[in-house]
Amino acid sequence: MRGRDQIPQPQLLFVFLSVLLTLATTSYGVNVTYDNRALLIDGKRRVLVSGSIHYPRSTSEMWAGLIQKSKDGGLDVIETYVFWNAHEPVQNQYNFEGRYDLVKFIKLVGEAGLYAHLRIGPYVCAEWNYGGFPLWLHFIPGIKFRTDNEPFKAEMQRFTAKIVDMMKQEKLYASQGGPIILSQIENEYGNIDSSYGPAAKSYINWAASMAVSLDTGVPWVMCQQADAPDPIINTCNGFYCDQFTPNSKNKPKMWTENWSGWFLSFGGAVPYRPVEDLAFGVARFYQLGGTFQNYYMYHGGTNFGRSTGGPFISTSYDYDAPLDEYGLIRQPKWGHLKDLHKSIKLCEEALVATDPVTSSPGQNLEVTVYKTGTGLCSAFLANLGTSDKTVNFNGNSYNMPGWSVSILPDCKNVALNTAKINSMTVIPSFVHQSLKRDADSADALSSSWSWIYEPVGISKNDAFMKPGLLEQINTTADKSDYLWYSLSTVIKDNEPFLEDGSQTVLHVESLGHALHAFVNGKLAGSGTGNAGNAKVAVEIPVTLVPGKNTIDLLSLTAGLPNYGAFFDLRGAGITGPVKLKGLENGTTVDLSALQWTYQIGLKGEELGLSSGNSQWVTLPALPTKQPLIWYKTSFNAPAGEDPIAIDFTGMGKGEAWVNGQSIGRYWPTNVSPTSGCSNCNYRGSYSSSKCLKNCGKPSQTLYHVPRSWVKSSGNTLVLFEEIGGDPTQIAFATKQSAILCSHVSESHPLPVDMWSSNSEAERKAGPVLSLECPFPNQVISSIKFASFGTPRGTCGSFSHGQCRSTRALSIVQKACIGSKSCSIGASTSTLGDPCRGVAKSLAVEASCA
Ligand code: GAL
Repeated sequence: MRGRDQIPQPQLLFVFLSVLLTLATTSYGVNVTYDNRALLIDGKRRVLVSGSIHYPRSTSEMWAGLIQKSKDGGLDVIETYVFWNAHEPVQNQYNFEGRYDLVKFIKLVGEAGLYAHLRIGPYVCAEWNYGGFPLWLHFIPGIKFRTDNEPFKAEMQRFTAKIVDMMKQEKLYASQGGPIILSQIENEYGNIDSSYGPAAKSYINWAASMAVSLDTGVPWVMCQQADAPDPIINTCNGFYCDQFTPNSKNKPKMWTENWSGWFLSFGGAVPYRPVEDLAFGVARFYQLGGTFQNYYMYHGGTNFGRSTGGPFISTSYDYDAPLDEYGLIRQPKWGHLKDLHKSIKLCEEALVATDPVTSSPGQNLEVTVYKTGTGLCSAFLANLGTSDKTVNFNGNSYNMPGWSVSILPDCKNVALNTAKINSMTVIPSFVHQSLKRDADSADALSSSWSWIYEPVGISKNDAFMKPGLLEQINTTADKSDYLWYSLSTVIKDNEPFLEDGSQTVLHVESLGHALHAFVNGKLAGSGTGNAGNAKVAVEIPVTLVPGKNTIDLLSLTAGLPNYGAFFDLRGAGITGPVKLKGLENGTTVDLSALQWTYQIGLKGEELGLSSGNSQWVTLPALPTKQPLIWYKTSFNAPAGEDPIAIDFTGMGKGEAWVNGQSIGRYWPTNVSPTSGCSNCNYRGSYSSSKCLKNCGKPSQTLYHVPRSWVKSSGNTLVLFEEIGGDPTQIAFATKQSAILCSHVSESHPLPVDMWSSNSEAERKAGPVLSLECPFPNQVISSIKFASFGTPRGTCGSFSHGQCRSTRALSIVQKACIGSKSCSIGASTSTLGDPCRGVAKSLAVEASCA
């Protein structure tokens, strides 16, 4: 044997360095695998809670805060898609800056101590323009999307490999010490693969082996793909996934999209999902063997620019998520889910140690026990019916509201019932203030608007002529929402539709998504499709003149399709027929096949008006209610740090830019149907149309302006208005003052924090009602309502019941007023007993200022 001193010096150094290197990789890298029950991190099965935050739907300045609030809400994992068309708008020209700085986003997730799930797709759906595909992809000769097609596969592989390499270079995979524990390839292809025939199967097999060959060192999943080949884990999507089983006994039961609400469309009412139902879905999933669940979305955010899909997806992508569009905590959703996550985590050891055993003690009742030989025991009791029941389990009886799950981490005490909310409710409100800032503005121009008219019809040099009507997306390649179709036609005075008493009608048919028809330079009429049917067919009464008449049709898209088989081929624009009809004698002239002149985009887009540059006019008087007009103003930001929105009430439809950054399409004149918003009971199966609010009102009036996009003064707001509006009505709205409510009953499970402390004294003190002002620098300023006994109603409309303690209001006022937060025991020991033998609860409504 050679002694240590016999190794030559350089060699010793080499050995030392390699040991260091090995240590470095082994001590930081973790091994992520899976078995039939769970993902294993370094050999240990884990129960994980995940949430989606799409990085381009907020600003990089917001990310750290969003991630921290997710962590505080009990998430272990942040999930995001990767948005190909954001990163590669032009083939081989990449953008990973600002909102698209994926590496920074993933690093922030890691720095917060959370894991990441990177869903590369690169088809993502996501209500994102064209499902995430760049438009140039469509123009590659011979390409067919999402099937066994060489040109498509080559591009998909190139982009996927690029993202994987980027992550590897930055050491972002868990195998390298980074946060990414999971990746997804494709998305929900299983929903539509039958339309692609036998090629679907070979495509999915190819996608699987392509992904695996990229050697990320962490598992891959396919979401909604029953035939995902090994080793890819097929995962579930939906409002509930408790009945899901993976396609192999070796794969864990995972839920990649639990829809925490639903998306909003222009023209639709605002969907929401009650947290009692969301929590029920989550608890049912972990009850029946699930170990990984992801909220889609945890923060929905904003579709800035022209990033919405659809068509007709609104600019807000709030999604009724636990963090609202502005990144603020939504209560009670966030808080109740936080309590839920804690309760589930209290069961983690038992959940990963054994298989669940489920029995049914009665109709609509299910009891699941996770019990180990080593003495661990956790149980879930479910009432699947809509009426309340009592469940007897382990010698105790448990009161179960309908459609709820009780979680018993020790098989005895209830840590949480999904329908009993301990967390407070917050109703935030927007405070409006005028955009006019003369009084306190140093900038004299800050209150005034200037404008530039967008020409009607052809105004750009690159206009071109073609016989017949062109499909829009193939023509514009989505460089703009707008395509002009222009024609001039000569009307002889002896033409029948000019005869006295007859009304000429312009008939236009379009594949969508909306159009404005101008005749002889004047807006004659408009038409718009909707999320259900993008097509437009309009009959517009027009007045023609003998001789030359111009017909200028402005066709527009409102987000390209993102879902369904062959969504990429759906098409838009005025494909005809376009006809002039003389109504009285039925004579019709079909203009479709004539020579049309086309212009892609607007003159103002070519001039870059969105940045505020160019010669803007301020005289003679501000034109209002005029179509096709660019408006500009300068403004000071509302003081403070509260999130800002612009209220576009009074405007028609268009796009808005703040300091050159597009805050999205605005469309306050697109109003939802008056019906469909009936009372929504959380009990019973949820669907995307079950719970709607805002019926008969504009789908979206408030538009998010990220704080980081504005300076304190000298900001520029530019609008392009299509239909006509009054910009002087535009106001700021800052989200701030809040109503807080909480309603806790004597029989409520103990708050999870107390539950886990297991202190006898705390247990005896009983359930606690807590309130906390959500905004910095606010304190509880008044107690609008407090009642202990049998109060009724919901937040904002509580009323006293027959039984009420006279002391409740003063006790609550004393405990809360002037403080940022307060807690009061919801029990007779704190509040006295106004009616013995009656089940009592404490309801409080407070305001913050
Ligand atoms: C899923 C899809 C998501 C999103 C969601 C609805 O089917 O995978 O990307 O579109 O529907 O919000």
